[in-house]
Amino acid sequence: MENIKLCNARANESHESSLSNGRMQPGVTLSNGVEMPLEGFGVFQVPDPAVCKQAVLDAIRTGYRLVDTAQVYMNEAAVGEAVREAIAEGLVKREELFITTKLWVSDFSYEGAKGAFRRSMERLGLEYLDLYLLHQPFGDIYGAWLAIEELYNEGLIRAIGVSNFHPGKFTEFAELTGIKPMVNQIELHPFFVQQSSIDNMKRYGCQPQAWGPLAEGKHGIFSHPVLSDIGSRYGKSAAQVALRWNVQRGVSILPKSVHRERMEQNIDIWNFQLTDSEMQQIAALDLGHSEIIDHNNPDIVRYILSTTAE
Ligand SMILES: NC(=O)c1ccc[n+]([C@@H]2O[C@H](COP(=O)([O-])OP(=O)(O)OC[C@H]3O[C@@H](n4cnc5c(N)ncnc54)[C@H](OP(=O)(O)O)[C@@H]3O)[C@@H](O)[C@H]2O)c1
Repeated sequence: MENIKLCNARANESHESSLSNGRMQPGVTLSNGVEMPLEGFGVFQVPDPAVCKQAVLDAIRTGYRLVDTAQVYMNEAAVGEAVREAIAEGLVKREELFITTKLWVSDFSYEGAKGAFRRSMERLGLEYLDLYLLHQPFGDIYGAWLAIEELYNEGLIRAIGVSNFHPGKFTEFAELTGIKPMVNQIELHPFFVQQSSIDNMKRYGCQPQAWGPLAEGKHGIFSHPVLSDIGSRYGKSAAQVALRWNVQRGVSILPKSVHRERMEQNIDIWNFQLTDSEMQQIAALDLGHSEIIDHNNPDIVRYILSTTAE
């Protein structure tokens, strides 16, 4: 993809030397010109504040510059604490970090979004946000988006987008909104390839971003024979092959781990290249549906709509 390049702004000596290949991480230029690291660090299912803070600090020390949280993860305050500590320690400057959070469905209205954004920013302790996403495609997405567009135009958010928008919903939304979503964060891994969804986003200049890039450990991904066999040719693990496959097709990734050695492994994916045939072999693992959060399942939709974030 031509909009992928090295992120000079995010490189400093400790960052570069902390990466095992000693190279800068690639970034992607979003449709509004904002540069986003192609790889980030996710903090879903890390509710304990101390664990979350430590994980984010370790991730920053390891070289991650994008941190992905959400109102509904209940850990924005811990992310904010880690960011402040990292800056105070001189590990990074604020402008070298890219912080994402997401608006939950219980606040999907114009007024609800304004209030929830303010509360998220108070918890994060940030003056501006790098990326704000509508977390789910349900409810008053248009009212909420209007508020988010205003916050973006006021300069409080650098980029705005959506999450879990399937192609039909995404197309309708992109056709009807003033500012088109710059990112759509959806489930993307070798067992749920969703190439047509990615192709559709690209028609609207939207950057695809993978949640669950390691399939949350499902399908024996960490010892999968196809991924392990390919990895053995490059001295890489099955996890590294799965992550490389996504970035090599232009998808941003957000692997989560609370273990430092896994964080290091997951970011060490920039010094090998899968062949076209290996890319196809991996894509052939596709099951064609989610086994994590199926947005077509009425029980799941009901659960999402009935969950509150704070
Ligand atoms: N927008 C959405 O609706 C949505 C939904 C889900 C997730 N997300 C975002 O996407 C991020 C990533 O997705 P995810 O957290 O669901 O799942 P994931 O990153 O696919 O997988 C995380 C799991 O894999 C383990 N793991 C990580 N690296 C490993 C390695 N190298 N070897 C062995 N095990 C490894 C982790 O365990 P340990 O932590 O114990 O190491 C954890 O159990 C989230 O944290 C969140 O930021 C967004």
